[in-house]
Amino acid sequence: MIPPNPDDTRLLPPTPEGLAEAARQLAAGALVAFPTETVYGLGGDARSDLACARIFEAKGRPRFNPLIVHVADLAAARRIARFDDRAERLAGAFWPGPLTLVLPLAEGAGLSPLVTAGLPTVAVRVPEHPVARALLAVFGGPLAAPSANPSGRVSPTRAAHVMAGLAGRIAAVVDGGDCAVGVESTILGLDGPARLLRPGGLPAEALEAALGQPLASGDNGGGDAARPSAPGQLASHYAPGAAVRLEATEAGKDEIWLGFGPQAAGAALNLSPAGDLVEAAANLFHYLREADALAGNGGRIAVSPVPERGLGRAINDRLRRAAAPRG
Ligand code: TXA
Ligand code: MG
Repeated sequence: MIPPNPDDTRLLPPTPEGLAEAARQLAAGALVAFPTETVYGLGGDARSDLACARIFEAKGRPRFNPLIVHVADLAAARRIARFDDRAERLAGAFWPGPLTLVLPLAEGAGLSPLVTAGLPTVAVRVPEHPVARALLAVFGGPLAAPSANPSGRVSPTRAAHVMAGLAGRIAAVVDGGDCAVGVESTILGLDGPARLLRPGGLPAEALEAALGQPLASGDNGGGDAARPSAPGQLASHYAPGAAVRLEATEAGKDEIWLGFGPQAAGAALNLSPAGDLVEAAANLFHYLREADALAGNGGRIAVSPVPERGLGRAINDRLRRAAAPRG
């Protein structure tokens, strides 16, 4: 692997020229960090599998946690998520602002399955920071953006923090000064009874007042660092119907082989014939579904070994969940 060269990451000013360059990079599938009112986000096109795989790679995330999608306004949010009365009321009261709503995914939303980690729900928010809003307007599409720090490190509230953690791993950082809120958005689950999934920049009391009822608290099963969840709690993640066998160097008679790398030349599907982990991550959720469909009811999927480095750790984490015994 070529070591990252910090000079490859550009610091862009929040001017029309800087934002146009940031939008060009994003449209090409590259990653651009940008300021929001909470923390700096590591942005990538939420519709692009490769861009989303690159987000996990740049952060060194050991898991495919679902990502928050940032959009310009409520109309754009309605194109990717289904809003009920509660969601409409809260969006009307608190957007733009530090509130993320987890809602049922809209049909035809067009998001990468890496954004939702295969879940039938999506986390969406309209940020308030003028630079984030300007970038979303110029880019013209939804941006997936976790906090712009390496996994396990403190969230960045200045462009220099982003540079310190991610220079050489991303295309650019738009410098919008200090973030006013400084903690991540509050995440509210509305795919059932209202649940506080992550306390954050908007006080829960404000949400309770707007909803006229107290909030339940609940683990989102998404592996939030603040609420580590055991694998058993991830039942809501998409699990194939077929049985999954790992570390397969060939397929048995009745198995669909999901391969990785040149060694798996005979596989029905290959996550990356060249053995590229970013490509494999981008294909993972699509190919699991495809293998599942090919295997049919009660069928079996055999999966090649994937190296336990870089994105391979997240891929293996997801594969181990898919292969785990189901209750
Ligand atoms: O303030 C923020 O929210 C920042 C800025 C950049 O906007 N973004 C941020 O994103 O914190 P991220 O991707 O680091 O946070 C994702 C959180 C995780 O806890 C994840 O589990 C949860 O959102 N999440 C995302 N999609 C979800 C879903 N469909 N269901 C449940 N939880 C979800
Ligand atoms: Mg974070």
